[in-house]
Amino acid sequence: MAVIGIMSAMQEELAAVLAAMPHEHRITVAGRDFWVGHWQGHSVVVVLSRIGKVAAATTATVLLERFAVDTLVFTGVAGGLGAGVRVGDVVVANGFVQHDMDASPLFPRHEVPMYGRARFEADAELALQLAKASAQVLADAALHLGAGTLADFQLHAPRMHQGLVISGDRFVSASAESQVLRQALPEALAVEMEGAAVAQVCHDFGVPFAAVRTISDRADDTAHTDFQRFIREVASRYSLAIVSRWLSRRQPA
Ligand code: ADE
Repeated sequence: MAVIGIMSAMQEELAAVLAAMPHEHRITVAGRDFWVGHWQGHSVVVVLSRIGKVAAATTATVLLERFAVDTLVFTGVAGGLGAGVRVGDVVVANGFVQHDMDASPLFPRHEVPMYGRARFEADAELALQLAKASAQVLADAALHLGAGTLADFQLHAPRMHQGLVISGDRFVSASAESQVLRQALPEALAVEMEGAAVAQVCHDFGVPFAAVRTISDRADDTAHTDFQRFIREVASRYSLAIVSRWLSRRQPA
């Protein structure tokens, strides 16, 4: 049976997913807890990736090698970079770049040495499925979050976007820094700390990968505001609803 891996960087998000996943058991490898079980008729392994590219790459490698995961999905939060990408929106990645990769002048800026590329693609079919699930969840945002939460966080008609997500080992919390990223990678819709690393690992193993990120901040001077609360009350609920909807509509393989 196909095995689907689900990763999140933050404990709060994982808790909501795990609570929805019955009959799971825990296997600890490399200090990480892998929760093995079934959800919506699929075999799944759920794990906290930890934060940053190396931690996420290690977690992804264990998922693929030890747990024979053949489809991998990341769900979490990101800072919005693209014009019109607002807090409370959802970005489904169609590709990933490490914004802090720079082996110039030996290799072009952002290119991952020995790969001949800067960009790693998301699996198109998987990204499409997640985009559909995300759009449907956002259309019913009040149902998933409650009208009070929407008002508290001033979320109005949240939207789903598809495009480039960039990753680096830095929480971007200064407008000057996000401006530099926008200039270097103008297509980027969102910035986070894991996706491009996991995409590279999945590329190496030939395993389809996609990621869905709720925008928690605009990667600017206000980026730390209410971060934990936003994850708990908004992002974790979106993650749960999106992944659950996606799995329920996916044909078991
Ligand atoms: N994840 C959520 N917000 C982020 C930001 N501003 N920078 C990096 N990763 C993030």
